[in-house]
Amino acid sequence: MIQENKVIDESRQGEAVMVESTMSQGTRKLYLESYGCAMNFSDSEIIASILTKHGYETTTDESEADVVFLNTCAIRENAELRVRQRLTEFKKRKQQKPDLIIGVLGCMAERLKSKLLEEEKLIDIVAGPDSYRDLPKLIESVDSGQKAVNVLLSREETYGDISPVRLGSNGVTAFVSITRGCDNMCSFCVVPFTRGRERSRDPESIVAEVRDLFERGYREITLLGQNVDSYIWAGGGLKKEILTEEQRQASTSFAQLMEQVALVSPELRVRFSTSNPRDMTDEVLHVIARYDNICKYIHLPVQSGSTQVLHRMNRGYSREMYMERIEAIRRILPGCSLSTDTISGFCGETEEDHQETLSLMKWVGYQFSYMYKYSERPRTQAEREYKDDVDESVKSRRLAEIVALQQSLSKEKTFAMKGQVHRVLIEGPSKKSAEYLMGRTTGNIVMVFPAGNHKKGEYVDVYASDCTAATLIGEVVNKA
Ligand code: SAH
Ligand code: F3S
Repeated sequence: MIQENKVIDESRQGEAVMVESTMSQGTRKLYLESYGCAMNFSDSEIIASILTKHGYETTTDESEADVVFLNTCAIRENAELRVRQRLTEFKKRKQQKPDLIIGVLGCMAERLKSKLLEEEKLIDIVAGPDSYRDLPKLIESVDSGQKAVNVLLSREETYGDISPVRLGSNGVTAFVSITRGCDNMCSFCVVPFTRGRERSRDPESIVAEVRDLFERGYREITLLGQNVDSYIWAGGGLKKEILTEEQRQASTSFAQLMEQVALVSPELRVRFSTSNPRDMTDEVLHVIARYDNICKYIHLPVQSGSTQVLHRMNRGYSREMYMERIEAIRRILPGCSLSTDTISGFCGETEEDHQETLSLMKWVGYQFSYMYKYSERPRTQAEREYKDDVDESVKSRRLAEIVALQQSLSKEKTFAMKGQVHRVLIEGPSKKSAEYLMGRTTGNIVMVFPAGNHKKGEYVDVYASDCTAATLIGEVVNKA
């Protein structure tokens, strides 16, 4: 039985979602560590579910582990370097405990396949994102003295029937995966190679999972996919590119799915990630507007403000088209909070292109951004066709300018929310002090306030009396 779960650190991509969970007694113990995006975090909950059904127990103590799984990220080179460093630590542990089984799972496993076994002699298992049902068998192979690899990508696997074991949970917020893979082929991105073709999960299993979470006290769910707007369900086994017009008409779209999820309860907040500017429809925006419990927050990765760069990135939209989507959001969802992703120093990016990114950021006024330096990834279109020709020092300088601009935008946005009352869903104690609680506004802004008699999972109205660059500080004025 699970006793305690803990999230050590969480960031969007590349730089680690570390999950640990503690379980008591039992025979074989699994230590699971996740890196990268929310999707990996969510996959680890599926892995934990599959293995606990097979009699394994998870542990937060790596020293008592019989099996160690690293659920890895390959989005940037740095993400892989971190995993390599971690593996050297496990190498030492294996010298003391030779029967320790070490598995590398996820995107790095999929990218490097059996080459990883040659490069890292201590690894026993290499398993890609679509092979997790096979993990118990892969462990059995290792028990019988073999190394085990399964990196087959699937066009159907959604793990839709698997009820995730909630790791690192605060008992209030949870991820629910709705699509896997990505068909977009942005020229810089390794995801289509590591996570395979896009497929949608059936809406019944999604709604059932959400209902179950709500009944167990969860009050916020985030629907997850690489590109949630392209969600489409027309029945099992039907691929979206071969749908007839009639089947398409009868299918469930993202807007419809979100509506079904929002109807589970008005007390349940709904978030979603990630929207893609080329696929986000007005229909989705109208559904967000119609339901109070769908959060007024959209993460809309822009990558660059320059049409030329966007074209080379194969993003499928221009600067103007992106601006048109932002205008639609402002029109349909006034006050909706926005965040983005940017990449600095993509192949051929000029100083003018960079200035265009800065000017677009100012025009939109993002609440926050995830900002990266371009990192060339093997097999991608950019690696094959373009030269990674922006100097490292220039990439760093441009990134620093973007970060500085975002800091001032965040400050400005947060400051403007001071002196107002905001409804917050309480997630738990604040990081700094147990006497304070933290929660988020609908726009995903963190608020911190004295705990009083309030408990996590409750909605409260909080007056923002003060703020830092990204956090509002206040006092509860009313229990919602
Ligand atoms: N559609 C996905 C994107 C996943 S990758 C989603 O769910 O958000 C997350 C972000 O990493 C991208 O938006 C992009 O800004 C960044 N990224 C992807 N490949 C990269 C690369 N090769 N170098 C630097 N940043 C990259
Ligand atoms: Fe990557 Fe573009 Fe898909 S960033 S995950 S290929 S939408």
